[in-house]
Formats: sequence, C-alpha cells, structure tokens
Amino acid sequence: MSEDQHKKRDPEQYVDLGHFDLENHLKTQVALYEKRLKEGTAANKVAAFFATNLLGFAYHYLKSRFGPKAAYQYYPSNGDDGIYRLHTYTEAVTIALVSDWATDTPESDLIGNLIRDYDPDYTIHLGDVYFVGTPEEVATNFTNPDASWHFGKHGSLALSGNHEMYSNGSAYFKKLLPAMKIRKGDQIATQQAGFFCLENEHWRIIGLDTGYNSTNRPLLEVLFKPDCNLRDEQLKWLTDIVKLNDPNDKRGIILLSHHPYFSSFRDDHPVVGRQLKKVFGAAERPVLWFWGHEHRLSFYNQFGFPDGIKAWGRCVGHGGMPVETDAPDRGHLGQLLFYDQRIRERIRRRNVGYNGFALLTIQGPAITVQYIDQKKQTVITERWTVDPTGQLTTEILEIHPEVTKY
Ligand SMILES: [Fe+2]
Repeated sequence: MSEDQHKKRDPEQYVDLGHFDLENHLKTQVALYEKRLKEGTAANKVAAFFATNLLGFAYHYLKSRFGPKAAYQYYPSNGDDGIYRLHTYTEAVTIALVSDWATDTPESDLIGNLIRDYDPDYTIHLGDVYFVGTPEEVATNFTNPDASWHFGKHGSLALSGNHEMYSNGSAYFKKLLPAMKIRKGDQIATQQAGFFCLENEHWRIIGLDTGYNSTNRPLLEVLFKPDCNLRDEQLKWLTDIVKLNDPNDKRGIILLSHHPYFSSFRDDHPVVGRQLKKVFGAAERPVLWFWGHEHRLSFYNQFGFPDGIKAWGRCVGHGGMPVETDAPDRGHLGQLLFYDQRIRERIRRRNVGYNGFALLTIQGPAITVQYIDQKKQTVITERWTVDPTGQLTTEILEIHPEVTKY
C-alpha cells in the first residue's frame, strides 16, 4: 500500500462516528478489512504451514531463536491489575475465541472476517503467531491497517503460544500486547501481561500464560520438552489479586490457555493443572478449559490428573493453520467426546479440515458456546450453566451430522 493510500480515507468512515477511541479505531479497521478482503492481500499460503515443511520452519527458527528471552511482564503494571469487568451494549456478552490463527493466509483472513460478521464484544487469541512471532508477523496479522484481526467492541486480548517464544517473546510483549486494548470501566486499558481475568457476577474467564515456559534454550528444547509451567508471578497474581482460593466466590470458572491440559492426540501438560490445584485450595471445583496448540477442534469430558484440577477440555486450535483430521492415538480416549474429522480438501496430498472459532454468548448463569466453521456452519452448540455453589453443568444442543461422536 502506498503512502498516499494510507493518508486517504473514505468520508463514509466518519459517518456514525463513535464516542470512544476504541470504536473509532474499529470502524477504521472494518473499512480496511473489507478493502483487504476484496484485494486478497494475505502474504502466506496455508500449505506452507504443514508440519512436514521442516525446512521452512527450521529457517525461521534458526533466524530468530537465539538471544535472551524477553523480560517477563506481570501485574500490577501501570496501575492495572489484569482484571476486567465484562461489558456489552445488549443483554448478552459475546466473546470470540480463536487459536493458532495468526498465519496471514486467506484462511486466517476468512476467519478474521467471519468473526467480524458476528461483531462480538471481545475477541481473544489463544496464541501462536506464525512462523515465529516476529514484529513483522505481529504487524501483518494484528496491527497493520489491512491486518485481518478483528478487535472486539469492548476489546481484545492475546495469550502467548510457543511460536511467540521462538523469537524470544519480544514482539509479543513489545508489539502485540501494546496493540491489545480492553475496556476497564470507562477507561481503555492496554494489555500489560500474558494473563488476565474477565469477569461478571456469574463468571470468571481467566487467561493463563503457558507460552513463556514452553521454550527452553534453543535446540535443547527439542530433546527435553519444557512443561509450560506457570511462572511464580502468575501464580501470585492468581492467589493474591484474582483470589482463586476464596471459598466464598462461587462464580463459574473458565480457563483459557494455549497449551492443552490433556489430549488424545498430542502431549499432556499436567504440571499446569497441578499448580492450579494448589492455587485453588479448598475453593477448587471443576472448570471449563479452552485451549489450542493442536490444529483441530476436539471436545473432552471432565478429566483431571492425580493432584491436578478437574476440567472439561475444548481444543480450538483450528483458527488458521491446516486443520488435522487424524484419528486420536494417545490417552484419554475415554474422555474424548467429539472431534471434527471432516475433510475440507486435500493440500499437498494431505487431508485438511475446517478452520473455525468459538463464539461464547454469556447470559446470566448460562453460556452458549457455538463452534462455527469457515463455511459459517455450526459444528457443535453447547450450553454451560453455573449453579449457586459454583458447579457447572453442560448440555449439547446441536451437532453437525458429519462430526464424529467418539
Ligand atoms: Fe502452539
């Protein structure tokens, strides 16, 4: 895009000008997204992201992976405690969750624009900016005028995955977080750390940072897999500021993280659940936990490792990468409820599934979660309800007829 195009704006953009900086910013983004969609300016092809593209990955990895890790950021920071009350202009709060989305491909543009169609109050990225979370990759996916990230009406937040840390996390902390704005009362806050809590009188939605400790020293991490443990600063925040250990707080708990607590397809991360059990203490109860990292959509019944919290798992790592459709071959098969094994197309002789995202609609003690695919089809709709003791109940309302019930 030339300098001139950056300076020019269509007068239509100024019609219905909002009162908040955030709203004005969003209107600008919407106009630019529409232009970008028409022009098809995505930089990457999704085929470049296959796990078999080792050469491509090794190139980016080796180029970015050396040097010290970015300094850890935590609350309180600039007067912010990382807790944000949920806002909406309607009777229900809507939140779009999308993970492993930032690939700057026609697929990620499609999902970014689909999220915009639903116009949610909040949008949250559950991590992984590809290939390795460089400043340029943050810009092309999130912050350039023609980037296809959709900012929620009341804000956006971003978790770190492992890929942000492959470039040592500096672009995540110094470029992506400063772009993530969220309403805090009548102020607009900037995300200060890789974890956060969104809440109202019925629910607490807690974003956890499993990314920072998902990498080790270069190459060594290939041999000794890091366990993604939550750093002490984060555990202290969960205890002292969020007060997850308060037995009188009976709100429903929803966790978000990049890495799965458990999986039937790839690695478990039991340490995180064990750390959380210690934080909860007597206030512990089973939680709903959304994660990504695996490029698929899957659903698990309640499970917990010994000495770890119990959680219903939902993997929503199908945001922007080629979606894997392979059958499960690890543990927890007894807990696996569904996975979206539908094949969308074959790319490079590999089966590729449907990209998508999750849309949460929060109405009092009930949350409806709709899993929407790139063709705007509903894959599954489920409803969660929290009772006055903080216990969750769940009910599946709708399943796409071609989705495998495991
Ligand atoms: Fe990941």
